[in-house]
Order: sequence, then structure tokens, then C-alpha cells
Amino acid sequence: MPQFAPLKNDTFLRALLRQPTEYTPLWLMRQAGRYLPEYRATRARAGSFLGLAKNPDYATEVTMQPLERYPLDAAILFSDILTVPDAMGLGLYFADGEGPKFERPLRDEQAVLALRAPELDSLQYVFDAVTQIRKELDGRVPLIGFSGSPWTLACYMVEGGGSDDFRRVKTMLYDRPDLMHHILETNAAAVAAYLNAQIDAGAQAVMIFDTWGGALADGVYQEFSLSYMAKVMQQLQREKDGVQIPAIVFTKGGGLWLEQIADIGADAVGLDWTVNLGEARRRVGHKVALQGNLDPNVLFAGPDQIRAEVRKVLAAFGIPAAGNGHVFNLGHGISQFTPPEAVTVLVETVHALSREMRG
Ligand code: CP3
Repeated sequence: MPQFAPLKNDTFLRALLRQPTEYTPLWLMRQAGRYLPEYRATRARAGSFLGLAKNPDYATEVTMQPLERYPLDAAILFSDILTVPDAMGLGLYFADGEGPKFERPLRDEQAVLALRAPELDSLQYVFDAVTQIRKELDGRVPLIGFSGSPWTLACYMVEGGGSDDFRRVKTMLYDRPDLMHHILETNAAAVAAYLNAQIDAGAQAVMIFDTWGGALADGVYQEFSLSYMAKVMQQLQREKDGVQIPAIVFTKGGGLWLEQIADIGADAVGLDWTVNLGEARRRVGHKVALQGNLDPNVLFAGPDQIRAEVRKVLAAFGIPAAGNGHVFNLGHGISQFTPPEAVTVLVETVHALSREMRG
């Protein structure tokens, strides 16, 4: 069992557990990525995105890059949600400028029934990266591990890549719900085992990305996405060596179902920018912490406009009386076109303003 340095900054973990903090901690979805010139340089050396993600030295290097620039309150493992279906044998690749694709998508009954949760050995490069990053962090900030949700993974596995209308995966869902449930059952077991192995390797919090849950109809979301995230939550280890491991669930476009999402046993719920944080808090009470939710496009505006929008998000959540339990983030991943200086303004403003608002 690896030994790690004690945490110097646990603000993020305390906020997830709804304990008091001196300021509002923040990290950014996709904080390591193409908007940073140093990321593009490392990626060029590695040859490709998968060359980065599958090599623990490179994965560690790019995970650390945003932390060298900005005083962020958490690091997130550099990897991708699609490592899991890749390890299931679907053959992940990135066609230039086209996003992720699978060589062998699940298109018929035979392929679906042959699907198995992966051997964790085939994902060892991810767990090695987690341990290496945790050592490199040396207790600076906590490390977040993550996975896609069973449903969001299924979208890519059936579509064979990104999709505008989810025609193939929804056809299967409505026409052959038995097959869809088989995929989701397999994915839920795989995701739980994958996250537990990340926790064993050193992840101090975990997040489930349900990027496409919001594409589902009411009722269908609960049956085909939420219930499988609940299964993952039930199998997740919530403590490691006597320390709590908080779990965050994020359904993009899930604002309508907030009460139900808050009920599956996660410590925190991620929100996109369509939801008012104060309203969200009134709806869920103090059951969960909330993470979010600045529109990433705010970062294309000038510094004064960024500051004003940050203030709105902090004020919506409400500080100081109820100021516990907020982790500042974007409502979705940072755009590759974001000027890095805008992130400097964002981070400084969240820290300074949230301290000031606590009086
Ligand atoms: O947040 C972080 O910094 C950690 C790294 C991370 C990546 N992908 C790196 C990445 C995380 C948490 C993800 C999750 C992910 N991947 C999701 C869920 C979250 C979300 O954004 O909704 C999804 C749907 C994917 C699938 C995926 N991977 C897509 C659609 C793409 C193409 C995106 C694009 O902008 O072209 C990827 C590739 C990918 N994953 C990149 C990064 C930095 C870009 C790769 C590159 O060209 O360098």
C-alpha cells in the first residue's frame, strides 16, 4: 500500500462534506487540456491524446500543468471516460478532428450479449497514473478520480462515437430495452469496480460524468440512467484507511430531476448553468453539496464581466450563513478556445470574493 503525504489543502474535500471552509474551493472540468499551450506541447511529444492518457508519466505531467499555473483546489486524473469500453474490447480511437470513435460498436444482439465487464488488469495504466499523480501532488490538493455513467458510456458504445440525436442508442432503448438493460448492468458493475480501483490507487474523491443523461425523456432518465448510477453508488467504497471518499454525480441537463439525483447517496451533485444554485439548495436542503455552475462561455468575456458573473454564482448559492457545501466549477468542460488569462481572473475572483463575502 503506497504511503502518501498528508494533505495541505483539504478545502475541496471539506466543501464536499458540507463542512465550513474559509473560502469557496474550485477546480474546472477539463482543467488539463487544449486551451493550455503546455498541454499541446506535451501532446505533440506523446503523439496523440491516447498516447498521453495511456502513459502514466505523461498523464502525471499534464494533470499537474493547470496546478502549476493556477491555485486550484483539486487535481483531476488525466484520462478519459472511454477507457472502460476500450478495455471491454470496443477499440477506442480518435480520428483527427472528429472526436472519439469505436472500431467495434455494439450494433446487434450478439455483440451486446457478449459484453463483459473488463479485466481490471487492462486498466492498470489508469491506476498507475493515479498513484503517480498522488505522489507528485505531495499533499498539495486532493486528487479526483472519475468515470462515465453507465448510460453515457452506453451512448458511445452503441453510437460508435459522438452523436447529435442518439438515434441508434435510443432505438435500442425503446425497441429492445432488454438489451439496453444488459449493457447498463454490465457498465454499472464495470464502473463501480473501476472507481473502487482508482480509490485503492490513491483517488481522494470520485466523480461520475453523466454527460448525456439530459438527452433522455422524463421517466426514461430515471430508469436508464439514474437507477444505474444508484447501483454504482451502492457498490462504491466510501472510506479508505479511515478517511471518507466523497462521491459527486453530474448529469448535464439534469436540473429537472435534482431532488431525485440528490437521493442516490452521493455527497455532492454537479450542476450545469441552467440551474440557479440558491434554488437548487432550497430544493435539496443540506442533503448534498453542490458543484458548479458558471457557463464556460463567460471565460470569453472581459475580466470585469467574468468577475460580475462569478459574483452572481457565489451570491446565488448564498454566503456566509449557508456558505458551506459549495464547490465552484464550470457548468461543463472548459472550451479549448479559452484564453488562459481568463482562468487566472476566474480563480483569483472565486477565492478573493468568497473570502470577502464570508466577512
Ligand atoms: O477534467 C479533466 O481535466 C480530466 C480529463 C478528462 C478528459 N475527458 C480529457 C480529454 C475528463 C474528465 C474527460 C471526460 C469525458 N470524456 C467526458 C465526460 C465529461 C464531459 O466533458 O462531458 C466525455 C463525454 C468524454 C469523451 C470524449 N473524450 C470526447 C467527447 C472527447 C473529444 C472532446 C474534444 O474536445 O474534442 C474526448 C477527448 C478528450 N478527453 C480530450 C481531453 C483533454 C481532448 C483530446 C485532445 O485532442 O487532446
